[in-house]
Amino acid sequence: TNGGIVVVGSLNADLTIYCERLPLPGETVHGNGFAVNPGGKSANQAVAASRLGARVRLVGAVGDDSNGRMLLSSASGAGVDVRHVRTAAAETGVAVIAVDAAGENNIIISAGANGTLAPADVAAAADAIRGAAVVCLCLEVGMETVLAAAQAGHDAGATVVLNLSPYAEIPQQLADLTDVLLVNAHEASQFLGSAEIPGSDGDAGDWEAVRLRFAGRGLQQVLVTLGANGSVVLDSLAGTGEQLVQIAPIRVNAVDTTGAGDAFTGAVAARLAAGASLADAAAFASIAAALATTKKGTQAAYPDEDDVKRVLTAGAV
Ligand code: RIB
Ligand code: NA
Repeated sequence: TNGGIVVVGSLNADLTIYCERLPLPGETVHGNGFAVNPGGKSANQAVAASRLGARVRLVGAVGDDSNGRMLLSSASGAGVDVRHVRTAAAETGVAVIAVDAAGENNIIISAGANGTLAPADVAAAADAIRGAAVVCLCLEVGMETVLAAAQAGHDAGATVVLNLSPYAEIPQQLADLTDVLLVNAHEASQFLGSAEIPGSDGDAGDWEAVRLRFAGRGLQQVLVTLGANGSVVLDSLAGTGEQLVQIAPIRVNAVDTTGAGDAFTGAVAARLAAGASLADAAAFASIAAALATTKKGTQAAYPDEDDVKRVLTAGAV
């Protein structure tokens, strides 16, 4: 293999308003700043992985418009190969985002060109996928496309990483093609049919039960992110006694958590492509995600390898 990563999925222009607190339904609140930033889960994941030294190709679609050009230049500026990002006869995908004073957000996405990404685009990228170590996927493009990419990655012997976000039910076939599933607590709960997810204070027994439930659904390797509370590795392929690893959080001053999950996913993909174990990849990714929350925006906030290694060595920011 060429040891690289192929990310198949979405690119969005993020239209973000910063505000004291998020509006309730029917309510209008004053913002205190506005920015248009490059985003979209897959573009973010690609940029995060590339910043961390991985060789990354992005497969996606944008419109023939200024948002599309901004997204292409941000990704290629970060070293991502964008030759498989097609220009579609639809507007570039958009995310309307509100971020509150604590860095929490809510997001509405409009697929636009992302909605045109099809299995044919995966087929057109077959050469890239054939040599890849990791194929990285999320659910911001159509399920047929995600399935085609997972199948192509699986057939190529790549590690198929699926970020189950934004949450949707997936066919069993996709679960079976997935090697590593990445979920936050909310997505984990939904996937397991409203199961209780222990949280950072959960004891080992609670997490073992969650691991077994995922394994029962065909997911042997699962990373659960817990926001400011760290993350948990559930690895049913590891030896007894190593199947559960709880990763302590790195304390940071979060100003914008948008795209932190994508930083985590991209970092996991980068470390797995470099041959790291799942637990090492998760520990590295936890730091990358924490650092990503300390700056506004997504891609522009992502750390490089030295930033993460400094924290890894020091054990704190
Ligand atoms: O995960 C964060 C991303 O979700 C944003 O960049 C936005 O585009 C939405 O896709
Ligand atoms: Na950020």
